[in-house]
Amino acid sequence: MTDMTEMSGRPVISATGLFTPEDSISNEELVASFNEYVRRYNQQHSDSIEAGEITALTESSVEFIEKASGIKARHVMAKQPVLDPDIMSPRWPQRSNDELSILAEIGVKAARQALERAGRKAEDVDAVLCAASNMERPYPAMAIEIQQALGIDGFGFDMNVACSSATFGIQTAADYIRAGNAKSVLVVSPEITSGHLNWRDRDSHFIFGDVATAVLVEDAALAPAEHWDILGTKLKTVFSNNIRNNFGFLNRAYPEEAEGADKLFVQEGRKVFKEVVPMVAQMIVEEAERLKIDPQSLRRLWLHQANAGMNRLIAHRVLGHEASEDESPTVLDSYGNTSSAGSIIAFHLHRADLQAEDTGLICSFGAGYSAGTVFVRKAG
Ligand code: COA
Repeated sequence: MTDMTEMSGRPVISATGLFTPEDSISNEELVASFNEYVRRYNQQHSDSIEAGEITALTESSVEFIEKASGIKARHVMAKQPVLDPDIMSPRWPQRSNDELSILAEIGVKAARQALERAGRKAEDVDAVLCAASNMERPYPAMAIEIQQALGIDGFGFDMNVACSSATFGIQTAADYIRAGNAKSVLVVSPEITSGHLNWRDRDSHFIFGDVATAVLVEDAALAPAEHWDILGTKLKTVFSNNIRNNFGFLNRAYPEEAEGADKLFVQEGRKVFKEVVPMVAQMIVEEAERLKIDPQSLRRLWLHQANAGMNRLIAHRVLGHEASEDESPTVLDSYGNTSSAGSIIAFHLHRADLQAEDTGLICSFGAGYSAGTVFVRKAG
């Protein structure tokens, strides 16, 4: 264990890691499966539909999905059952308690990549935060299982702030560094969002994708030469029912049952769009001001990946002009909304070309409502 008196108390991002599931579902494949489900449902219920007792289901469309969201495809952990009109939900063999859980497995893969990139061994890490939207179980914490699988001597815990989990995790990790309570903290965000998506709901069946990311937050004193200084972090929450999931052990109808639909992801997409855009844009501008950063000078915005239109509006308000793909990169098109992992995927894939001293922003927003900003500068 490093002597903590040598530490600077200045948090940096030393490295990131990304695990992408091999399988991907295109909008065309998704819509074909959904529309087959609609056809079968309407056929099975034709008498009730004709009698006016229930409403016929309406088909989905590739054009709508791409225009309304910017999503063209999404990666998933289990493609076949999701596309099977009789199942439309992920499935995999039940694992015993002695096997690594599937959520921990993908978290470990992303974490290992982050550690490798930082040239760090597991024993150098003090803590693991598993920061994600949906944990596989209530306890033992996923973070502790990931900690054990990596061989880390320290502590770990889970935190769920929906789509903002990763930025909340980064601030928590940064605060441990600032307080001198840790020198190296892994923030792991395994997001198997396919499990809480209602693949039978036309309004939202196209939204989510599966992935895992990891961010290694460390004290500047031990960071590798290539790192990103954390200039400031800010978190905000405002209660809203507009994005909600009622699943829980006090509240568990089966999602396949009609009355169980609210035990999966539900949202009022329009309201979310309208309410979250101004909240986040204002938060970014105010935080930039506090940090004495001209928002228009930000070299890149790695924004939460939920909707291309939302990102366009937020980036415009922050930068003062329409953002180019270079200024605000999109990963939404091939990954879909990956909840808390979205802005981290963007940061992971689109930062190598930046120069020393370039300043950027990692920003998340989503259910809660919740929003988090992490201003970073590439070390010189
Ligand atoms: N295929 C075809 N048409 C569809 C459809 C589908 N899959 N789903 C909805 N439509 C139709 C609706 O019936 C509606 O038709 P109408 O005008 O005849 O009534 C029309 O398309 C518009 O629907 P609406 O739900 O208002 O779409 P939208 O433009 O708001 O886009 C979202 C929907 C979800 C993509 C968008 O609201 C969004 O991304 N919001 C933010 C969501 C967000 O960030 N959530 C956070 C999650 S963590």
